[in-house]
Amino acid sequence: MDATFILIVLFIFTLIHLYNKRSRNTRFPRGPPSIPLIGSYPFLSGVGIEKFIGDSIKKYGALTGLYMGTTPAVIINDWKIAKRMFAKDEFCGRVKNYTTEWARSMGGENLGIVTTDGDRWNTQRTFAMKQLKIFGLSKKHLDVTILPQAKESIQYLESKGDRVEINSTVFAVPVLNVLWSMMTGISLERDNVEMVELLNGLNFLFSSKVFLMSMMLPWIRFVFPNLTGYNRRVNTLKSIQAMLKRIIKEHQDTLDENDPRDMIDAFLVEINSQKDPEFSVDQLVMTCLDLMAAGSETTSTTLQWIVEYLVLYPEVQEACYKEIQENIKESDVRLEDTDSLNYCQAVIAEVQRLSAVAVASVQHTTTQQVEVEGYVLPKDCVLLSNLKLFMTNPGLWVEPLQFNPSRFLNEAGEFTKPEYFVPFGHGKRVCMGENLAKSELIVFTVTLIQQLKFESIPGFEPDVNNYTAGFTRIPSVFNVKISRR
Ligand code: HEM
Repeated sequence: MDATFILIVLFIFTLIHLYNKRSRNTRFPRGPPSIPLIGSYPFLSGVGIEKFIGDSIKKYGALTGLYMGTTPAVIINDWKIAKRMFAKDEFCGRVKNYTTEWARSMGGENLGIVTTDGDRWNTQRTFAMKQLKIFGLSKKHLDVTILPQAKESIQYLESKGDRVEINSTVFAVPVLNVLWSMMTGISLERDNVEMVELLNGLNFLFSSKVFLMSMMLPWIRFVFPNLTGYNRRVNTLKSIQAMLKRIIKEHQDTLDENDPRDMIDAFLVEINSQKDPEFSVDQLVMTCLDLMAAGSETTSTTLQWIVEYLVLYPEVQEACYKEIQENIKESDVRLEDTDSLNYCQAVIAEVQRLSAVAVASVQHTTTQQVEVEGYVLPKDCVLLSNLKLFMTNPGLWVEPLQFNPSRFLNEAGEFTKPEYFVPFGHGKRVCMGENLAKSELIVFTVTLIQQLKFESIPGFEPDVNNYTAGFTRIPSVFNVKISRR
């Protein structure tokens, strides 16, 4: 790259940075220092997204002000303030830049659900929520899809012998299949070419650090795009979009408008009705991509953490098994059984609390200049809700770092959770797949414990402090001994 070009870019960004700093005035929350172009990044400790929510920012108080690249950002460290803010539209925008409009989406339009806001987001979120209810949470779907996928994971584990490596692929296939069958009407085998391509693609998108960086530093695309993996990331996205377009075309050719088979059919019916130009094939592609990106890795990673904690706390695993035996014995778990499986629910919640798969909300933005807690935040200021902090704050939890599922049981032994237990975020943009994810977690966990016993291998005990943190916290690979109950 030409040195003059780099200098000009640096100069422009320094000016933007100085302008931003001046305009941030004294009423912007205090925080770590920042430098042009890069922002506060070098002054933060931790890895991945944890850099923005860790110890180096908590000391500034309820709201920490910093810079993500050249963009002002505020980390919300106080639960009550976070709850109030995210309940209002003006704190629920999303980042708009080259990455969201071109590199991630199609034709320079910010499409889908996760990165859109305003009327478009509202229309698409409302429609997708309705379809999730019909095709994702109906009894038929639960029995026909989630349970068989839970059983598939057991078959897969047993096929590996009595010592098994718990890595990201164990649950990724069945969890992705739950979403895939809801969207396309079919589920895929582990070795199916499409499944392998999808999984490799989604894994790469999630593990690629450049993905995280390009959201806040869109200029990163100019810096050694091959070396950083930026080009590979864009190509991966394009090939998943092409696959989805092909599947949508097949659906168009066989569509019966009176009998939609899956989410794609339901969306096509809406497009054909021409009631709202917001419904287009491109929008459908991005909605499917968003549901897979937001819903597959998060859920399968949580299942990995659940197995890890079950291995580390055998007495907790036995208590779950006892509860399952007392309530459903060997029968298949149904969602109606959930109410009686209080301890199992408490264990899942406690794992979610401590593993904090999503340590923070997705980046929100302010849709206008706003005043909050005596501070003034400019329009398009990035906001992150510090979910991990709310779930481990000693002011809110007794002995927060201890693994203690009983904290989620009331005196009558019923499952109960405080409002600051927020693994799925909170407010207007709370996770859209929360109910589906909860159903998957309980059905998989109960089926696994009912049929298999997980034990640590002496000398190879997993360690919950070993994990990678990109966009989510993923446990490092560990080995377990499994035996049939
Ligand atoms: C254990 C599994 C999951 C966890 C921990 C999780 C967590 C989250 C979190 C923290 C957010 C950000 C909320 C915010 O920006 O304030 C979110 C958003 C979202 N999640 Fe999930 N999620 C999970 C499963 C799912 C599933 C299964 C789906 C799909 C069916 C899904 C779809 C979405 C979507 C579409 C959004 C964006 C919502 C919006 O922008 O309005 N998630 N999730």
